[in-house]
Amino acid sequence: MRVGVLTGGGDCPGLNSVIRAVTKSLIAQGGAEVVGIEQGFLGLIERRSRPLSWDTVSGIHGRGGTILGTHNRADPFAFFGAGGADVSAAALAYTAELGLDSLVVIGGDGSMAIADRFSRLGLPIVGIPKTIDNDLHHTDRSFGFDTAVATAAEALGRLETTGQSHCRVMILETMGRYAGWIALEAGLAGAADVILLPEMAYSLEAVAARCREREQRQRLTLICIAEGAMAVGGAMTVAERLAGSPDPLRLGGVAHVLRQQLQPHVASEVRATVLGHVQRGGVPTPFDRVLATQFGCQAATMVCRGEFGRMVTLQGGTLASAALGDVAGRNRTVPLDHPLLASARQIGVCLG
Ligand code: F6P
Repeated sequence: MRVGVLTGGGDCPGLNSVIRAVTKSLIAQGGAEVVGIEQGFLGLIERRSRPLSWDTVSGIHGRGGTILGTHNRADPFAFFGAGGADVSAAALAYTAELGLDSLVVIGGDGSMAIADRFSRLGLPIVGIPKTIDNDLHHTDRSFGFDTAVATAAEALGRLETTGQSHCRVMILETMGRYAGWIALEAGLAGAADVILLPEMAYSLEAVAARCREREQRQRLTLICIAEGAMAVGGAMTVAERLAGSPDPLRLGGVAHVLRQQLQPHVASEVRATVLGHVQRGGVPTPFDRVLATQFGCQAATMVCRGEFGRMVTLQGGTLASAALGDVAGRNRTVPLDHPLLASARQIGVCLG
């Protein structure tokens, strides 16, 4: 058995743990030969790969990033490097040339959409959910999210001390695209006074009122805002558009927008920090390493059982799988009746 492995889309902490688990498990369970495809689907297009052995995946468990590299614009069905042309046939031909019996795709909703199309063309594929955004359907928690939350919570702690010294309103912007999971959990962990999510448009008046109220008795107001958040009647803050990407919109900068909106309405100075890719880098937490290992082992088992066209899932603490088509191109946002929102309200957090 010869199995290809690739990591697609934006990277996240824990990818190396998955590569390690898939490779070791396939070798141990199935006596497989494992081939690493470089830079996501770009490696299939540009014919770049290398063998993965027990030894090459040893010592990578605690390392951030992905030893295989990744790419977030290499869609073989609309390849940016060929003016948007469909080069999927050439990519498929490369898998045949490599003698691959199947392919493990570690990625987010965009990668799963590509995987689903290849799967429908007859390539046996098992998907593994990956994203710091925690926004994949059928997956309560994706690896990388815990690390991102820990990083953002630590940043809030740092903003808290400097903000207190200067009696300021401090705003931290987290990633997460159209889902507010990182802002919600980091905000709760980092004791934010205001948490603003894409799922709930915020009222500037409500945020300003909370800041003014705190100015009467506290030295600081800490605001955690998700990059996809927007004011009532406003729009998401788009940083740039990347042609050729499954989702061309890159969000970013809403913290600065909020700062400008808020400053005229409060006495304290307002400062904004955009955390950005710091959330995606660095060493994965032990939780993410363990989750990534479980996902990798589950995927290897699915390959050995011939359960193709499906992605590993985690629901209610149980590992299972869902059809690629069920997760492709879909986002799981924070439901408005989520228990964490109720907890936030109960402890007086302003949700805008
Ligand atoms: O999907 C992961 C993510 O980090 C989002 O939170 C963010 O909006 C986006 O990717 C940033 O993408 P890029 O690395 O292309 O700037």
